[in-house]
Amino acid sequence: MPFRRFFERGTKRETPTVDEETVADETEVSDDALEPDEADAGTLDEDEEGAPEDQAEINWRDRANAVLPTGASTGSKRAEALYGDANAAGPTHYYNASGCRVVDATGESYIDCTMALGAVALGYAEPHVQEWVLNALSAGNVSGLSNVHEVELAERLCAHIPCAEMVQFLKAGAEGMSAAIRIARTYTGRDLVVGSGYFGWHDWSSDAAGVPAAVRALFRVVPFDDVTALEHAAREAGDRLAAIVIEPVIERLPSEAWILAAREMASSLGAVLIFDEMKTGFRLRPGGYHELSDVMPDLAVFGKALANGFPLAAVVGHRDVMQAARRTWISSTLAGESVALAAANAVLDVHESRDVCATLATTGQAMRAGVAAAIKASGITGVRVDGLDPMWLLRFEDPHRETRFLELAVTHGILFKRGAYNFAATAHDDEAVTAIEEGASAAFVELLEEERGQA
Ligand SMILES: Cc1ncc(COP(=O)(O)O)c(C=O)c1O
Repeated sequence: MPFRRFFERGTKRETPTVDEETVADETEVSDDALEPDEADAGTLDEDEEGAPEDQAEINWRDRANAVLPTGASTGSKRAEALYGDANAAGPTHYYNASGCRVVDATGESYIDCTMALGAVALGYAEPHVQEWVLNALSAGNVSGLSNVHEVELAERLCAHIPCAEMVQFLKAGAEGMSAAIRIARTYTGRDLVVGSGYFGWHDWSSDAAGVPAAVRALFRVVPFDDVTALEHAAREAGDRLAAIVIEPVIERLPSEAWILAAREMASSLGAVLIFDEMKTGFRLRPGGYHELSDVMPDLAVFGKALANGFPLAAVVGHRDVMQAARRTWISSTLAGESVALAAANAVLDVHESRDVCATLATTGQAMRAGVAAAIKASGITGVRVDGLDPMWLLRFEDPHRETRFLELAVTHGILFKRGAYNFAATAHDDEAVTAIEEGASAAFVELLEEERGQA
C-alpha cells in the first residue's frame, strides 16, 4: 500500500516551510515534479484492486443511484446537475485528481475547469499542501486536546484577513454560515435576518422542503445589488434585525451603492453585517471581496479555497462580535481536526510566497478569452462567456444545446461547469489553457455540424 510509506516517515510533527522551487513549479502536474513517495500519494498501484482498467465495466452512476438517495452527496455532482440530463454521456465519478487534471473511473483524463466547485485554487494534490497534510495525518489528526495548528492558523488568518480579529473553525461552508448567524443573533439578541445569496443548505436560509415555516419567516431574501429592496427589508425588520448577510459577488461585482447601503443599514439599525466569502476568499484577494472593496463587514465566513479542498470553514470578525460565541453554543467534534487546518496553513504559505490571486486572475482571463475566441471562430450564437476572470461562466440560451456541448467537450478531454462558475487554478498551465480553447472550439464546431445535419 502506498500510504504505508507515509506512516513510516515517523511521528515527529514537522512544520514544513514553502519550498520555493516546489511552489514556483506548482503548475507542473507530472509525477516527476514530486518526491518519489509523494508521486504515489494519489494513485493506486496498477495491479491493486480498483485500478482504472478494472473499473471500465462498472456503472458507477447506477450503483450510486441505488444507494445514495440523490445519486451524489454534493448536489452539483449529480449527473443532472453536471450535464443537465441524468442520462447525459459524461463522467460522474473520478479516480484520481492531480493539478488541473482528473482521471475518471475508466481511466480517461480530463482538464477540469470546475475545480471542485471552487474548493481548489492551487490544483489538486498540490505538493506543498500534501506535505503539510501528510505530516498532520501521520502525527495523529485528532485527539482529546486541541491541535496547535488551530491556534497557528487562527493567528495567521487574523494577519491575512482585514476584518479578522478572532476565528471560529468549522468544517463545511454551510456550518460556518450557520455559526455566523448564531453569533449575530446572540450578539444582538434579535432574530430576523435579511440576506442575498446562497449560504448552503441549512434551515436558517433555506426554502427547501422540510424547513419549518416558522424558521423561514425569520429570513427575508433580497435580490442581489438592489439598494431599494435591501433598505426596505432592513427598515421593515427594524429593531428585530440581527444581521444583513450578503454573498458579495454573484457573477459580477456589486455596485458600491449596494454594499455601502448594506454597511450603513446594519450600522444604523444595530445589526451585524456578514459577508459570505466562500467563493471570493483566497481567490479575488486572500481576504476576499472585503479586501478588494475595503468595505468592512463585522463578520466574514471563509471556506472552499481556504484549505484547497480539505474540509474547513472559518468564521472571522471583530473581537466584540466574535466573543458572543462564548454566550451561545457552537461546537463540532471534528472542528479542530488537524489535517484541514494544516492544509490551510500550507495554503497561507503559498499566498505568502507569491501573488496567487493575481495568477488566478490572469489564468482565468486566458481561459475565458480562449473560450470566447472558440465561440467567435465557430460562429455559434446563443452562448457567451460571463463572470469575473478567476470565476467565469458559460451562458447558453438553450439548455439542450448546453448539455450537448458539455458532452462533446468531454470527448475532447475538457470538463466545463454547467450553469455556474468555471474556476481558474494556478495549476492551469499554458498547455491546459490551450487545450481548453481547442476542446471548446471542437465541441462548438461539432455541435453546429450536428444541428445542421438535423435541420
Ligand atoms: C457562497 C456560498 N456560501 C456557502 C456555501 C456552502 O458551503 P458548503 O457547500 O461547503 O457547505 C457555498 C457552497 O457552494 C457557497 O458557494
